[in-house]
Amino acid sequence: AGPTFVPAVVVGTGYGSSVTALRLGEAGISTLMLEMGQLWNQPGPDGKVFCRMINPDRRSTWFRTRTEAPLGTFLWLDVVNRDIESYAGVLDRVHFAEMSVYVGRGVGGGSLVNGGMAVTPLRSYFEQVLPTVDADEMYNRYYPLANSMLGVSTIPRDYFENSDYYQFARVSRAQAANAGLGTAFVPNVYDFGYMAMEESGQAPKSALNAEVIYGNNYGKRSLDRTYLPAALSTGNVTIQTLHRVRTIAQQPDGTYLLTVEQIDTAGNLLATKEIGCRHLFLGAGSLGTTELLLRARDTGALPALSDEIGNGWGPNGNIMTARANHLWNPTGMLQSSIPTMAIDDWNNPTTPVFAEIAPIPSGIETWVSLYLAITKSPERGTFVYDRATDTMGLRWTREQNQVSVAAAKSLLDRINHANGTIYRYDLFGDTRAFADDFCYHPLGGCVLGKATDGYGRVTGARNLYVTDGSLIPGSIGVNPFVTITALAERNIAQVIRQDIAA
Ligand code: FDA
Repeated sequence: AGPTFVPAVVVGTGYGSSVTALRLGEAGISTLMLEMGQLWNQPGPDGKVFCRMINPDRRSTWFRTRTEAPLGTFLWLDVVNRDIESYAGVLDRVHFAEMSVYVGRGVGGGSLVNGGMAVTPLRSYFEQVLPTVDADEMYNRYYPLANSMLGVSTIPRDYFENSDYYQFARVSRAQAANAGLGTAFVPNVYDFGYMAMEESGQAPKSALNAEVIYGNNYGKRSLDRTYLPAALSTGNVTIQTLHRVRTIAQQPDGTYLLTVEQIDTAGNLLATKEIGCRHLFLGAGSLGTTELLLRARDTGALPALSDEIGNGWGPNGNIMTARANHLWNPTGMLQSSIPTMAIDDWNNPTTPVFAEIAPIPSGIETWVSLYLAITKSPERGTFVYDRATDTMGLRWTREQNQVSVAAAKSLLDRINHANGTIYRYDLFGDTRAFADDFCYHPLGGCVLGKATDGYGRVTGARNLYVTDGSLIPGSIGVNPFVTITALAERNIAQVIRQDIAA
């Protein structure tokens, strides 16, 4: 049998892919989504689909024999990570030489594992980052559309002020205020009505049960509860899971041919398939999409692709850090896993920082205040394809994160100074106070207007599109998924109008 042919293929099921598949489906285009992870809908032995951050099991991690949590130690003790069976788990940590990147695996991509923080960037910063995109159209139309489709809301003030589960955030807010720093509520896709029912015992706990980076069982509006069911209900979209796209090539007639590996949840190769399509949309995330394009260019399958592919990568200035509080200032044994507040010092003229106040839902009093700082850094990395090993590397040095560490430090030094507190040095596996070797927000690699045209059409190949975080050049100043969603909405509207309907 020859290859299966479908009009449109969308690679991945994260934000960019889900938007694209919904709008193609609505336009009447038969669309196949290919996702390397699994569909997360089967309960495990404990009756839950996802495991907790405390005592994680094989469901937590993508094909490893030990978990790799961002906070790996406590009091320098190896008490956080667990030995597990190798399995198609939901969170992956992809290691490059001097940076590792956390990504979600499964139907819904990063939406399965992220903190749900849904932030629209400052318009002035958006205009700096993506100057060719019509900001009026984004801020009047596509950001509101993305926010409403994703189910974004803000925690009710009353609940935040009174719940024991947000003591950690109130403590950090007060300490920021002592240093003259302001805080802002951060919108989220978590259902706060559900959270209140968790607290009052009327519903099974999820955010209030230490569930987040390995998936939330209830309460979070991940893509498998928003865009993806809407896409499937058009009747034109199907999803194949545990299907990993390995290569893409163009046929003489202009259609695309994909080589796809089907695996089982133990990682065994079940089949290698060929799938053909007319329109190919890449939404495999910054790492996944860039790798497919680099491989295609550098092996000669799509030799006309731009030299810009691989460029413009950045970790959105992500730096994680933590402070130790005084004994009389506990952060609480009960902590919601869903962050809802940030210290907003983005208008600082020398060291702009947007620092989320992050929980440590460990079930014990830790006196730790944790932060994920988003900083503004001009440093960029480059992805390169290595033909000998058929893998993608990242040219990025630890040194390049110095400017981000310095910015985070300048903010947290102020808070420590005002409160007479110090950093925690025991949480990141060694003695560093600043985790500068991993990120949650990989952005770039196939930058809009450089490796593609102004709407994500890949330069040098017709009917080939990029729809995900790889379009954004390395930084967006806040958590990125609302921007990825809004940009995908904008781009697919244009592509359907000009390339497909016509
Ligand atoms: P995304 O990465 O979502 O999806 C890509 C999909 O493609 C994945 O499902 C992957 O398995 C699949 N894929 C990759 N290669 C493939 C291949 N070759 N074949 C088939 N499938 C393939 N952001 C935010 O705004 N607020 C937040 O609170 C957080 N918090 C957060 C916490 C943690 C722990 C992480 C890891 C990340 C976040 N993020 C976040 C980041 C956010 O989740 C991220 O920016 C988006 O998910 C990126 O969306 P994309 O559409 O680019 O790809």
